Amino acid sequence: MRHGGWWNGAALALTTCTHNERLKCKRRAFNALIVAYRNQRIGQSSVPLPSFLDEAHRLHSFAPPFRFSAFFSPEDTLLCACASESALRRLKESNSERSYTRIAELTTGSGLVGFHLLQCDDRNRLIGLDVDCRATEVAERNAKVLRLDRRAWFECADLWSESTLDTLAAYDPDLIVCNPPYVPEPRTEMLELEAGAGMDGTAHLIRAIELASAIRPDAMTLSWCSLSDPQKVVQSAADAGYSLRSLFIVAIADGEYSGTVRDHLVALPHAYINESRETIAAVAPDGSARFAYLLMAGDFMRDESEHRHDADVVLSIQRLCERFRASGLSALLNPEMTIPTNTWLLDRWGELDLRVILHGRDTYRKRAG
Ligand SMILES: C[S@@+](CC[C@H](N)C(=O)[O-])C[C@H]1O[C@@H](n2cnc3c(N)ncnc32)[C@H](O)[C@@H]1O
Repeated sequence: MRHGGWWNGAALALTTCTHNERLKCKRRAFNALIVAYRNQRIGQSSVPLPSFLDEAHRLHSFAPPFRFSAFFSPEDTLLCACASESALRRLKESNSERSYTRIAELTTGSGLVGFHLLQCDDRNRLIGLDVDCRATEVAERNAKVLRLDRRAWFECADLWSESTLDTLAAYDPDLIVCNPPYVPEPRTEMLELEAGAGMDGTAHLIRAIELASAIRPDAMTLSWCSLSDPQKVVQSAADAGYSLRSLFIVAIADGEYSGTVRDHLVALPHAYINESRETIAAVAPDGSARFAYLLMAGDFMRDESEHRHDADVVLSIQRLCERFRASGLSALLNPEMTIPTNTWLLDRWGELDLRVILHGRDTYRKRAG
C-alpha cells in the first residue's frame, strides 16, 4: 500500500471511535498520522546525526502563559541554553566555594536562557538587558509567571550605550550570556537597530566581547552561526582573554524564494553554507530549503595562562566550516575539533516540534474545543 503502516494506524484510530467521541478521535488520528509519518521519515534519514529535539526538554517550562518577544527563534535560543549550562557547570567546577552565580544576559529577549540558568540553581541571580523595551516588559512578566521575579531584573538598554557598561560594572557578573542578531546585513539595505548585525554579522558579538573585556566576568556564552565569520568571533574572544572550552553546533535549513540572500552570502569570504542534495534532503525533506548552515554556540572561560591553544581552536573551526561547505553534514559526523564539540541536526519537522512545545499544544487544544 502506498501509505504503509502510518496510514493504517491512523485509519484504525478513526474506525475504533464511537459516535460521541468523533471529534476527539479525529484529533487523535491526526496526531497518530504525524507521529507515525515522522517516525517513518526519521528511519529513512541517511545522515546519522542526533536530532536536536533530544535537547528540547529544556524548553518545557516555557510553554504558555510564558510569552516571547520579536526576533525569537527557538533553535538558537535552545542552543544558547545548552552552551550556557555548560559554562555554568564549568564555573562551579572551577570554584566549588562559589555560593551562587551572577548572570548577565545581553540581548535577553523573553529572558528564556537566563530563566533556564536560574532554574538550574535556585541561588543564581540574573540581570537581562535588551534595546527593545517591549522585550524587557515581556521578560518581566515571564519572571512573574515562572516565580523567578525575586532573582531576575530586566532593563531596557542598548549594548552600545555607556550606561550599559555602568550597569554591568555595578552588577559585576560571573557569567555573560549573549545570543544576539548575527545574520550579515545586505550591503544595500541597513536593517533596523535591533535586527542589523553589520556586514559580516558579528557587530553585536564583538561588542559583547568588548563589554566582557571591560567587566572581566569569569565566563561568557556566545551564539553565532556559520554565516557570521566563526573564526573572527572565536579569535576576538581569545584576544580579549577568553578561551573557547566547548562548542555546540546544529545544522538547519534556510529557505527563501528569490535566492538573493544566498547570492549575498556566497560572496562573503567567511560565510559557510552547503547546498548539496543530500544535506538539503536531510534538513528539509519537503524541499523547503535553498541551503543549510550551522548555528553555533560556545562556552568561553577567562584564561590568563600562557598555555592556551586558541590558535588551534580557531583553525579547527575554520577547517570544520570549510569541510561543511565542501561536503555537507558528513563534516559534523566527525568534527575533528581540539575541544569537546556536540553536533546535531534539526530538520523542518523538528523546527515545528520546537514551536509546538513553546507556542502550540495548549492553544491548539483550546481552539479545537
Ligand atoms: C535573536 S533575538 C534573541 C533573544 C534572546 N537572546 C533569545 O535567545 O531568545 C536578539 C535580541 O537582541 C536584541 N537586540 C538587538 N540589538 C540590540 C542592542 N543594540 N542592544 C541590546 N539588545 C539588542 C533584540 O531586541 C532581540 O531581543
